[in-house]
Amino acid sequence: MTKDTLILGIESSCDETAAAVVKNGREVLSNIISSQIELHKLYGGVVPEIASRKHIEKINQVIEEALNTANVTLQDVDAIGVTYGPGLVGALLVGVAEAKAISFATGKPLVGVHHIEGHVSANYIEHKDLEPPFLCLIVSGGHTHIVLVKEYGKYEIIGYTHDDAAGEAFDKVARAIGLGYPGGPKIDKLAREGRKDAIAFPRAHIEDAPYDFSFSGLKSAVLNYINSCKMKKEEVNRADVAASFQEAVVDVLVTRTILAAKDHGMKKVAIAGGVAANSSLREAMEKACKKNGLSLYYPSPIYCTDNAVMIASAAYYEYLKGFRSGLDLNAVPNLKIGQR
Ligand code: KG4
Ligand code: ZN
Repeated sequence: MTKDTLILGIESSCDETAAAVVKNGREVLSNIISSQIELHKLYGGVVPEIASRKHIEKINQVIEEALNTANVTLQDVDAIGVTYGPGLVGALLVGVAEAKAISFATGKPLVGVHHIEGHVSANYIEHKDLEPPFLCLIVSGGHTHIVLVKEYGKYEIIGYTHDDAAGEAFDKVARAIGLGYPGGPKIDKLAREGRKDAIAFPRAHIEDAPYDFSFSGLKSAVLNYINSCKMKKEEVNRADVAASFQEAVVDVLVTRTILAAKDHGMKKVAIAGGVAANSSLREAMEKACKKNGLSLYYPSPIYCTDNAVMIASAAYYEYLKGFRSGLDLNAVPNLKIGQR
């Protein structure tokens, strides 16, 4: 019998301080997330300085809880996986410094993880049969990418956003209709009471880039619509705005993902990142995949938004390949996918 491999994952790239212990890349022994959302809500978005300070306050406690819940000690862990980019530099540094300190003190190997590779790997947790190659749509607050996952840890970006990320568009539109931060889940909920064909919002196409996205025009169209209602002294039907905006985002995400999968001969499609928790996106993607004979994979909502389970899973596959980070590992706020 082969020995089990335990990875301690650490994530602090944005506004969640998270730690987790994962067995053999796919079995969750613990998943601790300390969210700062309530704190940042006051400001309508993440305040980087506050995020870093809060990470420092919470990180030891979160790691201890992850080890206790998993009923293991640092001595039982085989390696420490940590997000080192992309993200907020001050926030990333807290996790990286902590992981390096643990690695130095215990002699356990350190594995730096790309945050987006983490989001992709969230799909391995509940889909034990999912193995590369597959196509993955990553939609979060900071990223919108269509990626070919060629093998574990080997990615090729084939589509990306030219301006706002999908989650960013959700957050900005939510703010415009007075829903507060984070906007995605609130729009998701309100949209159920609205008509998705009430307002014809634009779907941007980028010339010669069939898998790329642009959401800034859509965001402006929503703002213009709201302003024109105000000028005409008409009441804005917020549920209709939410439903029509969401439909415009979902429409482009689904059609481009399906096109990319077909063009690249991919039979398996996965979605990941905070926006992958969106109920309308999941439904529409399910329908489109069925129609095109593709299998669809998506994580439970708790593994869509930031967590350390996904970081431990990504670290596991890098660890198996022999990848190790040195104690000179640094936070890289604009780290590119596949870059070392
Ligand atoms: O992956 P994530 O937690 O953080 C980043 O790496 O950016 O994603 C956060 C983003 C936010 O923009 C949030 O509004 C969005 O994901 N989000 C959603 C939903 N839940 C979270 N967007 C649409 N529908 C949701 N249900
Ligand atoms: Zn994320």
